[in-house]
Amino acid sequence: MRQALIVALDTDAHTALSLARTLRGHVNYLKVGMTLFYGEGPGIVRQLADMGFSVFVDLKLHDIPHQVEGAAREVARAGATMFTVHASGGRAMMMAAVRGACEGSAECGSDTPDVLAVTVLTSLDAEGIAEVGIGRAPGEQVELLTRLARDSGVQGVVCSPREASVARAILGPEALVVTPGVRPAWATADDQARIATPADALVAGASHLVIGRPITAASEPASAVERIVTEG
Ligand code: C5P
Repeated sequence: MRQALIVALDTDAHTALSLARTLRGHVNYLKVGMTLFYGEGPGIVRQLADMGFSVFVDLKLHDIPHQVEGAAREVARAGATMFTVHASGGRAMMMAAVRGACEGSAECGSDTPDVLAVTVLTSLDAEGIAEVGIGRAPGEQVELLTRLARDSGVQGVVCSPREASVARAILGPEALVVTPGVRPAWATADDQARIATPADALVAGASHLVIGRPITAASEPASAVERIVTEG
């Protein structure tokens, strides 16, 4: 369980670094999303990596392949262990992300970060998907994009716990299947609706679990991690 945990730092840099100091030795992975990255720049990734964390850079890149290749190169140079792109950007764009990741890591002699494809945003329901012109049901669209992600050479996908078993079946045992929307049974209710417990998400096929507020907003974040590790 501990190896699977990724703590989402959706805070300002000061709070993020303080949380990182508190969580050192308790978790290996931290997630830097758009808020923290755009507020602080790539330096925050390097700072967290230098503290010994694996850093998941969740910027959900989506642009022409040339631009995504360049962004992926810079994200790799910043010290990311993995990062996200939108699968709907297409095969050539995902292949460009993988190329950029290889180029950036080669330039600085570090390990190549894994590329994760985001299939369908969980914030979109059937109506929202129809509004952007997609005729398929959300589940079918997730399957189609997961297959495209696999064929484009990325290392895994981000999906909700309820899609994890389908993603695992398509991608095979080695792929990364990263699920947000994870809540320990003891966590207080918030805006996450389609949730699963950490143990259930792992059983469904997740390799990594993104958990934010149940840890970051706890009075003792390190104790919250330990409770998740022991209770699931
Ligand atoms: O605080 P909480 O556990 O809800 O944080 C979950 C993290 O996962 C946030 O950083 C959120 O942006 C991200 N996320 C999500 N649902 C998705 C994709 C990412 O909650 N479908």
